[in-house]
Amino acid sequence: MRLTPFVPLALLAAAGLHAETGRAAWLRYAALGDGSARQYRETIPAVVARLGDAAPLESARRELVLGIRGMVGRTLRVDSHVPTESAIVLGTLGAIRQAFPQLDAAANLEPDGYWLKTQRAGAARYTIVTAANDRGVLYGAFALLRKIALGDPVGDLDEKQSPFAPVRWINQWDNLDGSIERGYGGRSIFWEDGHVRADLTRAGEYARLLASLGINGCSIDNVNADPRILASDFIPQVARIAAAFRPWGIQVALAVDFGSPQTIGGLDTFDPLDARVAAWWKSAVDRLYRAIPDLGGFVLKADSEGRVGPSAYGRTHADAANVVARALQPHGGLLFYRGFVYDHHMDWRNPKNDRARAAYDNFKELDGKFDDNVVIQIKHGPIDFQVREPASPLFGALEKTNQAVELQITQEYMGQARHTVFLVPMWKETLDFDMHAKDTPTPVKALVAGKVFLRPAGGFVGVANVGLDDDWAGNHLSMANLYGFGRLAWDPDLSARRLAEEWTRLSFGDDPKVLETVAGMQLSSWRTYENYTGPLGLQTLTDITGDHYGVAVEASERNGWGQWHNADEKGAGMDRTVATGTGFIGQYHPAVADVYESLATCPDDLLLFLHHVPYTYKLRSGQTVIQYIYDSHYDGADAVTGYVDAWKPLKGRVDDRRYGEVLAQLEYQAGQAHVWRDAVTMWFLRASGIHDAKGRVGHYPGRFEAESMALEGYTVMDVVPWEAASGGKAVVCAAAQCAATLRFDGASGWYTLHVQSFDLPAGVSRFRVLVANQVVDEWAAADHFPARKIDGSASVRRVIPGIALRPGDEIRIEGVPDGGDPAALDYVEILPDAR
Ligand code: GCU
Repeated sequence: MRLTPFVPLALLAAAGLHAETGRAAWLRYAALGDGSARQYRETIPAVVARLGDAAPLESARRELVLGIRGMVGRTLRVDSHVPTESAIVLGTLGAIRQAFPQLDAAANLEPDGYWLKTQRAGAARYTIVTAANDRGVLYGAFALLRKIALGDPVGDLDEKQSPFAPVRWINQWDNLDGSIERGYGGRSIFWEDGHVRADLTRAGEYARLLASLGINGCSIDNVNADPRILASDFIPQVARIAAAFRPWGIQVALAVDFGSPQTIGGLDTFDPLDARVAAWWKSAVDRLYRAIPDLGGFVLKADSEGRVGPSAYGRTHADAANVVARALQPHGGLLFYRGFVYDHHMDWRNPKNDRARAAYDNFKELDGKFDDNVVIQIKHGPIDFQVREPASPLFGALEKTNQAVELQITQEYMGQARHTVFLVPMWKETLDFDMHAKDTPTPVKALVAGKVFLRPAGGFVGVANVGLDDDWAGNHLSMANLYGFGRLAWDPDLSARRLAEEWTRLSFGDDPKVLETVAGMQLSSWRTYENYTGPLGLQTLTDITGDHYGVAVEASERNGWGQWHNADEKGAGMDRTVATGTGFIGQYHPAVADVYESLATCPDDLLLFLHHVPYTYKLRSGQTVIQYIYDSHYDGADAVTGYVDAWKPLKGRVDDRRYGEVLAQLEYQAGQAHVWRDAVTMWFLRASGIHDAKGRVGHYPGRFEAESMALEGYTVMDVVPWEAASGGKAVVCAAAQCAATLRFDGASGWYTLHVQSFDLPAGVSRFRVLVANQVVDEWAAADHFPARKIDGSASVRRVIPGIALRPGDEIRIEGVPDGGDPAALDYVEILPDAR
């Protein structure tokens, strides 16, 4: 008898036996309500039969046992042949046809597609889960479980589903030392101190989450690749990760460095046209495949952001891609060649220079020169995961080359998991965008799936960068993005609302109030974030040479990185027109270019991405650009305050731990949204000299700048950039303890104090607030913001409600610095309570 391995404890956690940490994500299998559970008890049989031994079939079988036990409270009996009683039967189409000759013989399924079919035989009713291949059966099992979790009927099934595209991949940007580039959920689940982790439990759990969505490949190291990944001593280590993925039908892939033949291969060249280089790639790849026969392939970032590439030898990207692809080809491996190639030393003084042009300019003329197992992996917009970009024109330009869209799940420019931003509505705008590459509609999703020009490979790649934190992404609500990406890669026609609702129900349960609140928040969150960061196509107005997190309106200007918005005292926006600008718009097919080129038809949301206009230019709504910038920032900040208010009544409806963690995240986001609001609006007020018609910008009732309070020990400093602090200044403490004091001269009543301070991760400073000598609040500034200095990234708001103030009261804030954190203060705002 073969011994069945123990089900890992983590999977039991998924069954709801433990407190909710977020680790089970959408696979919680929480107990269904009585009515629903009773209904399923009547329809779900007592047996699950697995026809065949393949590992994904065994995963499917175990998952069904686990899920049905969790949700319905019944433990299925396990069988390896079809019993005479009713059963769930798992098997590939070949095995199922033998067991059920009466099944529709013509039934055909695409690779990875599945069929859920109810088949009656006498008194027995079989729920057949079948597919053309093993992992398709696993996808079918997850689909069946999802139906049960969502309360859909499963008694009479006949549902076939095929994935929209063959490529449904995840990229992780994990470094071999265990850090993750642009990762916000903790250390790597794969790597630690230069080698693969001894304990790969989380890698296995991750594979399970991904498989539940239909993801079929995952690269496990940074695109800024360490050449050592291809060294022979790494192969057995990578093979361990492949082994953790294999039961879930996920192929492992590696990001590789183009200089490897030289750096680790001992050659004096990496010229792609040198026969020795080709031979090196072939032997390196052959060696890998001997250990990992199902390796998915490689990801390659070349000639980009300092990575070496074919330009070193005057060769083309096609030369570079093909030499590696030819080594992979005999093994069925794919080479994802990144389209993210641009010059980051561009001269900003030349108005014709434009980073947005780069992908098209680099790849368009090579169309048709790439081998059939090369996929050009193209970021969804022409710049770099900004809050608003048009679809990359390259999608419409490649007809004889495979392509994949690269979407960023990790929220690099989108609040880095400190802000809730549901990206599915944004992705859908790109995926549904008609590139007019033919007479019939050619949306991006169809182009990348190879449906338009009948390409053999292509699809969807998501940069996820999850880590070891319990919530994977760094924020419970951010996991909706991973869920949404995977579901869209399977079926991009699913609506954003449906995905938000599915995710909410699976992650938080069926309480209608929770559903309405969370889905509503998610669905509005992209627009909200855009409103308080960079509207009208300005892009995320963040520190683009630093952490890409806090506000820094001019960080993009006057440097070679090319993320320019050209805002000055007269107007804003990049002129990308053909007529007078960089000509970027001319990279689109005429039906698109005509809409973008003309101010009369250019969508407002992309106005400043595509045109330079004066601040007084009127949008379609009749509003001026400058007033829109002011209004949107106030709307955005108010909306996040609204999220906090909406979340609070969910206490008791969401488990305590996640309730508290999400509340803290939203409260922090609300404070940050105000920092962004004030910084961006003040910057544009100063640049344009045009006042806010509603009188808000620059007028902050109840606000007392720290630099104008009575200071003991604190000294005043200029903050850089100036807009990141109210009044451009902060106070910092270089003594053992400092204080800033003001005298309240308003009317008696109840007030809320907003204390705006700066929290640097280099130490844990402490604060105390006293009103009329009575301590009303104290806290340690112990958060880990992506901040290195006193600026918008470090700015944080402490809200102290319910304070009774009388005229003449002294309000005193004491700060105790620690290490590199000088207990810096920006301002205090004293706001009367509503009642
Ligand atoms: C962005 C990101 C980098 C990353 C790069 C890429 O520029 O900030 O960290 O390496 O994209 O996609 O290659």
